Amino acid sequence: MCGRQPHTSMHIDGSTRIVGVFGAPITHTASPAMHNAAFEALGMNWVYVPFHVEAANLRSALTGMRDMGMAGINLTVPHKVPAVGLVDNIDSEARHIGALNTIVVEDGKLRGFNTDAHGFAAALQEEFNLSLQGLRVVVLGAGGAARAIAVKCALEGATEIVIANRTVSNTEPIVREIAPRLTKCRGIGLDRPALARVIAGAKLVVNATSVGLRDGDALRLDASMFSSDQYVFDVVYRPAETELLRAAAQAGAQTANGLGMLLHQGAKAFEIWTKQKAPLAVMRRALQAAIGGDA
Ligand code: ATR
Repeated sequence: MCGRQPHTSMHIDGSTRIVGVFGAPITHTASPAMHNAAFEALGMNWVYVPFHVEAANLRSALTGMRDMGMAGINLTVPHKVPAVGLVDNIDSEARHIGALNTIVVEDGKLRGFNTDAHGFAAALQEEFNLSLQGLRVVVLGAGGAARAIAVKCALEGATEIVIANRTVSNTEPIVREIAPRLTKCRGIGLDRPALARVIAGAKLVVNATSVGLRDGDALRLDASMFSSDQYVFDVVYRPAETELLRAAAQAGAQTANGLGMLLHQGAKAFEIWTKQKAPLAVMRRALQAAIGGDA
């Protein structure tokens, strides 16, 4: 044989522990590459498998996952919110967020976590050396990712959070969860003068919409809205530099894409399932290779 040898030497036997991810669609997930590289690097007899599970089948899939002796599962679209009602107990941060992305089976019971929130905070720390304590934050978007991020900001001591979303009414459930109990929080639309004003007053701006994933979609924020003492984080990681990050970088702001969040949510899930420290460097390399090396 010539060329490169296959990387994996996977061995499945009667003691292999199984984890994975349920979603629909699921074909584009980069998580198997990240987790299987970690198992291999640590010489663990574990495997991570993606499963296409439709919304209507989540309950039976979770029961089956438990009954088949799997160690746990990740959840992605469309399962994160419905899963809250299908587990035996929930970590308190995940309860605030109202969405789960990780379940571990412990003594036959399903325990739910949200490691997206941890992934976000860990990425901010790693990329910007920034803690959320005392920050004024603008979160763009009001879907599942925005909710995890906004609630995490509130739980970690951000002093003010503005949720800016195309459909203002979609911000209401997030605002109700956060204000006034956790911190100051309000929702606004994406109209430019109001958005420019709140961005000007923020230290951290986070894009948690799906805008940036597709060509043609744009939030139409330009460099004049940012300044060099700001941090701008985009949950999108492909492309590695979205229009938003380009505009912010032009203004001298520090920028980071969502790769670090994806990595750290995975690392936390790995640790919840295996009770072992996640091999971050291995997982990061595998992720970068899986998403095309452009991040
Ligand atoms: P996720 O769970 O990944 O956060 P989601 O729940 O589908 O995804 O949420 C997508 C977010 O992107 C929403 O905030 C959505 O705005 P609406 O609430 O108005 O739908 C936002 N979004 C999607 N496409 C958009 C676009 N072209 N312009 C502005 N916002 C957009």
